[in-house]
Amino acid sequence: MKIIKVKNYDEMSEEALKIILDVVRSKPDAVLGLATGSTPLGLYAKMAQDHKENGTSYAKCRTVNLDEYVGLDISSDQSYVYFMRENLFKNIDIKLENTHIENGKADDKEAECARYNALLNELKQDVQVLGIGSNGHIAFNEPGTPFDSVTHIVDLAESTIKDNSRLFNSIDEVPRQAFTMGLSNIMNAKKIIILANGEGKAYAIGELVNGEIREEVPATILRNHPDCILICDELAGKYI
Ligand code: F6R
Repeated sequence: MKIIKVKNYDEMSEEALKIILDVVRSKPDAVLGLATGSTPLGLYAKMAQDHKENGTSYAKCRTVNLDEYVGLDISSDQSYVYFMRENLFKNIDIKLENTHIENGKADDKEAECARYNALLNELKQDVQVLGIGSNGHIAFNEPGTPFDSVTHIVDLAESTIKDNSRLFNSIDEVPRQAFTMGLSNIMNAKKIIILANGEGKAYAIGELVNGEIREEVPATILRNHPDCILICDELAGKYI
């Protein structure tokens, strides 16, 4: 795993932008694996700015997102599909029909997992962007998730519900379940960028870099990937 330690959030986002632009410029129809959450917001703002100023085009790109809350869809501003449209897709020239995410409102959840998995097998990510949970989760693969997992439904860990409650009116509104890409779907990406900022991520980053590779800390699987780049700020990287 390559490590890029930077001073702050802005530099982290800038380093990530350079990698995304490299991929998109060398392969205009690239498949971009995207994440939600606070961490990639700076990257998405920079992609939008670059698109406006330099005209980098995403018109031929396809995107696959990591995860979605069970029970939410575009009609909810807490859904991840809404998040992606608001924070990235409406600001670049991507075609919405080329953007993919699990359907949180699917009636048949097992069939939805199978559908998404088949899609991921077709659309292999040229680059996958990841954040990391304070407990070392990636996507919603919580501690203990098998390394060979594919798209599945998870019961969110209490720590994740608490971390994510800041984005809801109250903790009771945070969905208890989510659809998520599995760890093997993530590892299928040709290149992975994992971003982390702030002291809350220091434990997880310490384990990612120096801990034993184990299912109790899902992100440690990334050390087995041939082209994974960690970009973290000084606070998140304080143990490495
Ligand atoms: C988001 C996702 C999560 C987040 C992680 C960090 O799609 O899959 O794993 O990347 O929970 O969240 P933030 O960035 O809000 O700290």
